[in-house]
Amino acid sequence: MKTSRRQFLATSTLAGAGVSAGVTRLAPVVAVAASPTIVSAAASAQPALLGGTPVHTGGWQKWPVWKPEWEETMLKVCRSGKWYRPSGPYVTDFEAAYAKLIGARRCLATASGTTALIVSLHVLDVDAGDEVIVSPFTFVASYNAILAHKALPVFADTDPATLTMDPKSIASRLTDRTRAIMPVHIYGLPCDMDAINAIARPRGLKVVEDACQAWLAEYKGRKCGTLGDLGCFSFQESKHIPSGEGGAITGDSEDLIDRCNSFHNCGRSVGNFKGNGCFTRGANYRMTQFQGALLIQQIDKLVKETAHRRGNADYLNAELAKIPGITPPRLPADSRGVYHLYPFRYDPSRFHGLSRDGFVRALNAEGIAGHAVYKEQYFEGLLDETIASRGYKRLFSAQRLKAYRDSFHELKGNRETCANTVGLSQTTLLGDRTATGHIVEAVARIQAHSAAIAAKLKA
Ligand SMILES: Cc1ncc(COP(=O)(O)O)c(C=O)c1O
Repeated sequence: MKTSRRQFLATSTLAGAGVSAGVTRLAPVVAVAASPTIVSAAASAQPALLGGTPVHTGGWQKWPVWKPEWEETMLKVCRSGKWYRPSGPYVTDFEAAYAKLIGARRCLATASGTTALIVSLHVLDVDAGDEVIVSPFTFVASYNAILAHKALPVFADTDPATLTMDPKSIASRLTDRTRAIMPVHIYGLPCDMDAINAIARPRGLKVVEDACQAWLAEYKGRKCGTLGDLGCFSFQESKHIPSGEGGAITGDSEDLIDRCNSFHNCGRSVGNFKGNGCFTRGANYRMTQFQGALLIQQIDKLVKETAHRRGNADYLNAELAKIPGITPPRLPADSRGVYHLYPFRYDPSRFHGLSRDGFVRALNAEGIAGHAVYKEQYFEGLLDETIASRGYKRLFSAQRLKAYRDSFHELKGNRETCANTVGLSQTTLLGDRTATGHIVEAVARIQAHSAAIAAKLKA
């Protein structure tokens, strides 16, 4: 289970932290400026961790959301017995609607975001023994999709200011085995795609956008998922448009998406579901009618909620930046995030040395659902196991594997990002302006009392 999902579930059931059963309706964002008087009054009150009353007791919206008006369609699918991809209209209808929404010529629905990435890398000819440059600050599925092809996930560094791949760190990672670059629009924050494409294109490298958290994010007037060769999305349960599991690949090349279609359908030609005629390798990565029916009914909701999240994120970007030691993420020029989580950088030195994890505890006690973010996952064992495996030893020299392992220590920007970033949970940006104001008040309160909180947590 990935960090954001696990933490989302954990924080959506925060016990003893003033977080109660969630608000189920989307409250309007009211354009009200933060009141310094209210914030400073709340800031002076005793923090909840030291026995005070939590700033926010209203809870946060539960996720996923079920709408009674979807029932009729879902029941129709159940009763029809037409559950398999080619048996009904919903998967293809969703593909057409999602392509239109994203501004891509084509879309192929898949069983998950992970399988979307696996299929995309295959059709872009990532093969055993190749290397793919990827962002380390991501859900581990981005690594795993590359590993599924027996290729090496080579990490570009993370820019702590943007939380995304630092394009300046890519050049030193390129080798004669590099085949593709996989930027990750983490938390729905667009990567600097012009800079990444400028490195990839002249070298003939392919670009697969991991847009699994970036539905409707925009970069220079275009949606994430349309900026590389192929874009991949996830519709897993915690996502902004969820179907339990689910994914999609978007792209402008008919040929590439047709090849994705074949690979995701056991290697058959497009439209062939009968078993014979497998002209290429493949697997079963198909989406079901249930998923398609659930997703197509959520498109309008996604559009409305994205606008709501952005309104609240703009407010937090402005208000949290006024608190010393809190730095909202920087986006590339002319781009718009969608804030799957709302992340910010935390500087303990401006909070009397209160650790990031201590800050998170204090925040949770105030009723604000937040958590630490991805860890330095390359040190967690999966890549040591990879390097030690028979297959990788056959495919890469001992010298290359050693240099690869050593390079993890050079990821200073990523280390800083993992250590100092706080993520507000998925549904915190769906609150009304009062609830969003509570987030600012809670952070201000923690700062005002940070010396006492740090002392209590050390004791
Ligand atoms: C950045 C990122 N990449 C890939 C994935 C994989 O998607 P899925 O869980 O649908 O397989 C996720 C899902 O959480 C993700 O957040």
